[in-house]
Amino acid sequence: MFIRTAMAADLPAIHDLLVETWHDAYDAVFGRDKVTAITGEWHSVTALRRRLDRPHSEFIVADDGATIAGMAFAAAGADGKVLTLHQLYVRPAFQRGGIGGLLMDEILNAFPDAETCILEVAEGNSRAIAFYQSYDFAVAGGPEGELRHLRMERSLGVDAD
Ligand SMILES: CC(C)(COP(=O)(O)OP(=O)(O)OC[C@H]1O[C@@H](n2cnc3c(N)ncnc32)[C@H](O)[C@@H]1OP(=O)(O)O)[C@@H](O)C(=O)NCCC(=O)NCCS
Repeated sequence: MFIRTAMAADLPAIHDLLVETWHDAYDAVFGRDKVTAITGEWHSVTALRRRLDRPHSEFIVADDGATIAGMAFAAAGADGKVLTLHQLYVRPAFQRGGIGGLLMDEILNAFPDAETCILEVAEGNSRAIAFYQSYDFAVAGGPEGELRHLRMERSLGVDAD
Protein backbone atom coordinates (compact mmCIF):
# COMPACT_ATOMS: atom_id res chain seq x y z
CA MET A 1 0.00 0.00 0.00
CA PHE A 2 1.44 3.38 -0.91
CA ILE A 3 0.21 6.91 -0.36
CA ARG A 4 0.25 9.27 -3.33
CA THR A 5 -1.37 12.44 -4.66
CA ALA A 6 -4.84 11.95 -6.13
CA MET A 7 -5.22 12.43 -9.90
CA ALA A 8 -8.21 13.15 -12.13
CA ALA A 9 -8.23 9.50 -13.28
CA ASP A 10 -8.77 8.39 -9.65
CA LEU A 11 -11.97 10.39 -9.15
CA PRO A 12 -14.51 7.67 -10.14
CA ALA A 13 -12.80 5.19 -7.78
CA ILE A 14 -12.69 7.79 -5.00
CA HIS A 15 -16.40 8.44 -5.54
CA ASP A 16 -17.12 4.69 -5.23
CA LEU A 17 -14.98 4.51 -2.09
CA LEU A 18 -16.88 7.40 -0.49
CA VAL A 19 -20.31 5.96 -1.35
CA GLU A 20 -19.40 2.53 0.06
CA THR A 21 -17.68 3.90 3.16
CA TRP A 22 -20.41 6.45 3.92
CA HIS A 23 -23.14 3.79 3.77
CA ASP A 24 -21.09 1.54 6.04
CA ALA A 25 -20.32 4.29 8.56
CA TYR A 26 -23.51 6.35 8.49
CA ASP A 27 -26.59 4.34 7.43
CA ALA A 28 -27.15 3.35 11.06
CA VAL A 29 -26.73 6.97 12.18
CA PHE A 30 -28.60 8.99 9.53
CA GLY A 31 -30.59 6.35 7.57
CA ARG A 32 -29.82 4.96 4.12
CA ASP A 33 -31.84 7.52 2.12
CA LYS A 34 -30.17 10.48 3.79
CA VAL A 35 -26.73 8.97 3.17
CA THR A 36 -27.58 8.37 -0.50
CA ALA A 37 -28.64 12.02 -0.85
CA ILE A 38 -25.51 13.35 0.88
CA THR A 39 -23.05 11.21 -1.05
CA GLY A 40 -24.80 12.07 -4.34
CA GLU A 41 -24.23 15.76 -3.68
CA TRP A 42 -20.97 16.02 -1.74
CA HIS A 43 -19.08 13.15 -3.37
CA SER A 44 -19.94 13.52 -7.03
CA VAL A 45 -16.96 13.39 -9.40
CA THR A 46 -17.67 17.05 -10.23
CA ALA A 47 -17.48 18.07 -6.57
CA LEU A 48 -14.32 16.02 -6.05
CA ARG A 49 -12.65 17.48 -9.15
CA ARG A 50 -12.82 21.00 -7.64
CA ARG A 51 -10.58 19.79 -4.83
CA LEU A 52 -7.75 18.73 -7.14
CA ASP A 53 -6.72 22.34 -7.83
CA ARG A 54 -7.52 23.95 -4.51
CA PRO A 55 -4.59 26.06 -3.20
CA HIS A 56 -2.90 25.13 0.10
CA SER A 57 -4.47 21.69 0.02
CA GLU A 58 -3.46 18.04 -0.03
CA PHE A 59 -5.64 15.40 -1.74
CA ILE A 60 -4.15 11.92 -1.32
CA VAL A 61 -5.08 8.28 -1.81
CA ALA A 62 -3.89 4.93 -0.46
CA ASP A 63 -3.31 2.66 -3.46
CA ASP A 64 -2.15 -0.97 -3.50
CA GLY A 65 -1.86 -1.04 -7.29
CA ALA A 66 -5.31 -2.61 -7.70
CA THR A 67 -7.61 -0.73 -5.32
CA ILE A 68 -7.93 2.79 -3.98
CA ALA A 69 -8.37 1.72 -0.35
CA GLY A 70 -8.40 5.13 1.31
CA MET A 71 -8.44 8.85 0.69
CA ALA A 72 -7.89 12.09 2.56
CA PHE A 73 -8.32 15.77 1.77
CA ALA A 74 -7.11 18.66 3.91
CA ALA A 75 -6.64 22.39 3.32
CA ALA A 76 -4.89 25.17 5.25
CA GLY A 77 -6.18 28.69 5.75
CA ALA A 78 -4.48 31.66 4.08
CA ASP A 79 -1.86 32.05 6.85
CA GLY A 80 -1.19 28.30 6.94
CA LYS A 81 -1.67 28.10 10.70
CA VAL A 82 -5.00 26.27 10.83
CA LEU A 83 -5.33 23.03 8.92
CA THR A 84 -8.79 21.59 8.30
CA LEU A 85 -9.04 17.86 7.68
CA HIS A 86 -12.12 17.74 5.45
CA GLN A 87 -12.15 14.04 4.55
CA LEU A 88 -10.47 10.84 5.74
CA TYR A 89 -11.99 7.57 4.59
CA VAL A 90 -10.83 3.96 4.38
CA ARG A 91 -12.89 1.30 2.59
CA PRO A 92 -14.58 -0.98 5.16
CA ALA A 93 -12.64 -4.09 4.05
CA PHE A 94 -9.35 -2.27 4.68
CA GLN A 95 -10.19 -0.59 8.00
CA ARG A 96 -8.14 -1.23 11.12
CA GLY A 97 -5.09 -2.11 9.02
CA GLY A 98 -3.17 1.10 9.60
CA ILE A 99 -4.19 2.91 6.39
CA GLY A 100 -6.04 5.69 8.21
CA GLY A 101 -2.89 6.30 10.22
CA LEU A 102 -0.71 6.43 7.09
CA LEU A 103 -3.06 8.98 5.52
CA MET A 104 -3.19 11.06 8.71
CA ASP A 105 0.63 11.09 9.01
CA GLU A 106 1.02 12.14 5.37
CA ILE A 107 -1.49 14.98 5.75
CA LEU A 108 0.09 16.32 8.94
CA ASN A 109 3.62 16.11 7.45
CA ALA A 110 2.47 18.04 4.36
CA PHE A 111 1.68 21.15 6.43
CA PRO A 112 4.77 21.77 8.60
CA ASP A 113 3.72 25.36 9.40
CA ALA A 114 0.27 24.41 10.70
CA GLU A 115 -0.23 24.99 14.42
CA THR A 116 -3.65 23.40 14.79
CA CYS A 117 -5.59 20.73 12.94
CA ILE A 118 -9.37 20.79 13.16
CA LEU A 119 -12.08 18.47 11.84
CA GLU A 120 -15.76 17.70 12.19
CA VAL A 121 -17.13 14.25 12.89
CA ALA A 122 -20.71 13.10 13.46
CA GLU A 123 -21.45 12.57 17.12
CA GLY A 124 -22.73 9.05 16.35
CA ASN A 125 -19.55 7.96 14.54
CA SER A 126 -17.86 6.41 17.55
CA ARG A 127 -15.30 4.46 15.46
CA ALA A 128 -13.94 7.62 13.86
CA ILE A 129 -13.97 9.49 17.17
CA ALA A 130 -11.90 6.65 18.71
CA PHE A 131 -9.48 6.86 15.76
CA TYR A 132 -9.05 10.63 16.13
CA GLN A 133 -8.60 10.34 19.89
CA SER A 134 -5.81 7.82 19.24
CA TYR A 135 -4.18 10.62 17.20
CA ASP A 136 -4.45 13.06 20.12
CA PHE A 137 -7.47 14.98 18.85
CA ALA A 138 -9.90 16.13 21.55
CA VAL A 139 -13.51 17.29 21.30
CA ALA A 140 -13.50 21.09 21.21
CA GLY A 141 -17.13 21.89 20.38
CA GLY A 142 -20.56 20.70 19.27
CA PRO A 143 -22.64 18.83 18.53
CA GLU A 144 -23.95 21.25 15.91
CA GLY A 145 -26.23 21.24 12.89
CA GLU A 146 -28.57 18.67 11.41
CA LEU A 147 -25.81 16.03 11.33
CA ARG A 148 -24.80 16.78 14.95
CA HIS A 149 -21.14 17.32 14.19
CA LEU A 150 -18.55 17.47 16.91
CA ARG A 151 -15.54 19.70 16.33
CA MET A 152 -12.26 17.97 17.19
CA GLU A 153 -8.91 19.69 17.45
CA ARG A 154 -5.23 18.87 17.89
CA SER A 155 -2.25 21.16 18.47
CA LEU A 156 0.67 20.62 16.10
CA GLY A 157 4.26 21.75 15.91
CA VAL A 158 7.21 21.84 18.27
CA ASP A 159 5.26 22.95 21.31
CA ALA A 160 2.53 20.31 20.93
CA ASP A 161 2.43 17.50 23.50
C1 LIG B 1 -11.85 6.34 10.88
C2 LIG B 1 -10.99 5.65 9.82
C3 LIG B 1 -10.52 6.69 8.81
C4 LIG B 1 -9.76 5.02 10.52
O1 LIG B 1 -8.94 4.39 9.53
P1 LIG B 1 -8.33 2.93 9.80
O2 LIG B 1 -7.43 2.59 8.68
O3 LIG B 1 -9.45 2.00 10.07
O4 LIG B 1 -7.52 3.20 11.15
P2 LIG B 1 -6.11 2.58 11.62
O5 LIG B 1 -6.07 1.12 11.32
O6 LIG B 1 -5.00 3.42 11.08
O7 LIG B 1 -6.24 2.78 13.20
C5 LIG B 1 -5.30 3.52 13.98
C6 LIG B 1 -5.77 3.52 15.42
O8 LIG B 1 -7.02 4.24 15.56
C7 LIG B 1 -7.84 3.59 16.56
N1 LIG B 1 -9.03 3.03 15.91
C8 LIG B 1 -9.23 2.88 14.59
N2 LIG B 1 -10.46 2.34 14.36
C9 LIG B 1 -11.01 2.13 15.58
C10 LIG B 1 -12.27 1.60 16.02
N3 LIG B 1 -13.18 1.15 15.16
N4 LIG B 1 -12.50 1.53 17.34
C11 LIG B 1 -11.58 1.96 18.24
N5 LIG B 1 -10.37 2.48 17.88
C12 LIG B 1 -10.11 2.57 16.58
C13 LIG B 1 -6.98 2.49 17.16
O9 LIG B 1 -6.23 3.04 18.24
C14 LIG B 1 -6.06 2.15 15.99
O10 LIG B 1 -4.86 1.53 16.38
P3 LIG B 1 -4.82 -0.08 16.60
O11 LIG B 1 -5.51 -0.73 15.43
O12 LIG B 1 -3.35 -0.38 16.67
O13 LIG B 1 -5.55 -0.32 17.88
C15 LIG B 1 -11.76 4.51 9.11
O14 LIG B 1 -12.19 3.57 10.06
C16 LIG B 1 -12.94 4.99 8.32
O15 LIG B 1 -12.81 5.35 7.16
N6 LIG B 1 -14.14 4.94 8.93
C17 LIG B 1 -15.37 5.24 8.24
C18 LIG B 1 -15.42 6.61 7.69
C19 LIG B 1 -15.20 7.66 8.71
O16 LIG B 1 -15.85 7.65 9.73
N7 LIG B 1 -14.30 8.59 8.40
C20 LIG B 1 -14.07 9.74 9.23
C21 LIG B 1 -15.13 10.74 8.97
S1 LIG B 1 -14.90 12.21 9.91
